[in-house]
Amino acid sequence: MITVTTLRKMKEKGEKITMLTCYDASFAKVMNNVGVEILLIGDSLGMTIQGHTSTLPVTLEHMIYHTQNVAKGNQKALLVADLPFGAYEGSVESAFQNSVQLMKAGAHMVKLEGGLDQVEKTAYLSKRSIPVCAHLGLTPQSVNALGGYRVQGRDQAVADEMIEAAKAHEAAGASLIVLECIPKDLAKAITAQVNIPVIGIGAGVDCDGQVLVLQDMLGIYPDPPSFSHNFLAETNSVALAVKAYVDAVKTSQFPTEQHSFN
Ligand code: KIV
Repeated sequence: MITVTTLRKMKEKGEKITMLTCYDASFAKVMNNVGVEILLIGDSLGMTIQGHTSTLPVTLEHMIYHTQNVAKGNQKALLVADLPFGAYEGSVESAFQNSVQLMKAGAHMVKLEGGLDQVEKTAYLSKRSIPVCAHLGLTPQSVNALGGYRVQGRDQAVADEMIEAAKAHEAAGASLIVLECIPKDLAKAITAQVNIPVIGIGAGVDCDGQVLVLQDMLGIYPDPPSFSHNFLAETNSVALAVKAYVDAVKTSQFPTEQHSFN
């Protein structure tokens, strides 16, 4: 069974960590079979499963349902479940109660989007036995405030604040960080400056691990982001495509320059 301790040791040894989004029991088994260490029950399910144009309509009930389904198929991986939009923007106590429901559904960790403004939540949850993954950079729940899905942290002040936020989340007790859609050198700097594992998506090859959205890496989501890669096209089998992704991440062959930002 993969735990936060396993992931820490992998970072220390420089062994790449693999993570994929997963929304059901069947795919949890496929991913277990090829050794994906972390399954993310991502609120991207609002787009990939429900067909919305953003993650905003996803509710806590949806996240609980999919977390339960993934947990039934999972035997080995660490399960991270997203706190959906609106489930943690209020009081720390309501964020805690909503996180408890995800943990009771089978999650081993919850993920929340946001920088310095969310550090208080990370501290509150971590102190109450809820491991937290902090999601920085492009935070899809803020797509309306950000003005679209675009690279974050090219501006020096924004980059400096992201580094500060990563360190603050670590100090507050976060167990993991996801960096989405940021320049590769910024991701490299953040990865080097914290002791907790850092997982990138559109953040270059120098993070401690990588995550992709399942439907993007299978090439079945229309108009996938440029930082993704269609692993099914080369393998012709879903199981082999997931294995090819794991192998490519473990050997630092994915992501390439083509999937990274400057
Ligand atoms: O919901 C999701 O799939 C995510 C990934 C993009 C990291 O948060």
